[in-house]
Amino acid sequence: MVTFFVGGNWKMNGDKKSLGDLITTLNTASLHDETEVVCGAPTVYLDFARSNLDARIGVAAQNCYKVAKGAFTGEISPAMIKDCGVEWVILGHSERRHVFGESDELIGQKVAHALESDLGVIACIGEKLEEREAGTTEDVVYAQTQAIADNVKDWSKVVLAYEPVWAIGTGKTASPEQAQEVHEKLREWIRANVSEAVADSVRIIYGGSVTGANCKELGSQNDVDGFLVGGASLKPEFVDIINARA
Ligand code: PGA
Repeated sequence: MVTFFVGGNWKMNGDKKSLGDLITTLNTASLHDETEVVCGAPTVYLDFARSNLDARIGVAAQNCYKVAKGAFTGEISPAMIKDCGVEWVILGHSERRHVFGESDELIGQKVAHALESDLGVIACIGEKLEEREAGTTEDVVYAQTQAIADNVKDWSKVVLAYEPVWAIGTGKTASPEQAQEVHEKLREWIRANVSEAVADSVRIIYGGSVTGANCKELGSQNDVDGFLVGGASLKPEFVDIINARA
């Protein structure tokens, strides 16, 4: 069995006071030993999060650019993320895709550069409501996964996050059956298009309104290897989500 992976995505929330309180809660909580935990901090708080979180908890940036340095006002590079002692980056999040207009192509380039820079990548995919209703969920997530897979040489540094856009921040969680169905199909896609070994070892995590109340059932599905948690990752209930498989 693969190591369960729980990511928190703080998005553009919190300040040093509230994030400091959350960090204290996480540092002093009893966390399941066999679950890998990573918190996605806002850029300006990466250093703060890494300096204050216990070493057993990883930190992720929420985005980065596709090259190491240069005249790209407002962007940050994997090298800078690593320089803060941070080991992960979230790429392709639906808010990057749909609020900031990032294309599959740009996300692929970012994935390639982050991996070349030795960062771990939490690569996000997921269909919009109208795509699900039109019956095109598989086409959408396969195309997004292809654009990522084309840029991955070493899958051991990649976690794939399936996050249906209609479930993000809406309180409308995918049912355990809906999540399992897409995760299983994604794993089969990887088996056919990447390799048997990667299909068996890659973590496919679910995101979209995961809470302390629904995490156990979602996490008990065969192909759900963890979560990416937004809103609930800012609350003490994040500890219950981390311990969903304990
Ligand atoms: P949510 O966000 O848990 O608030 O729905 C999930 C995400 O965007 O990763």
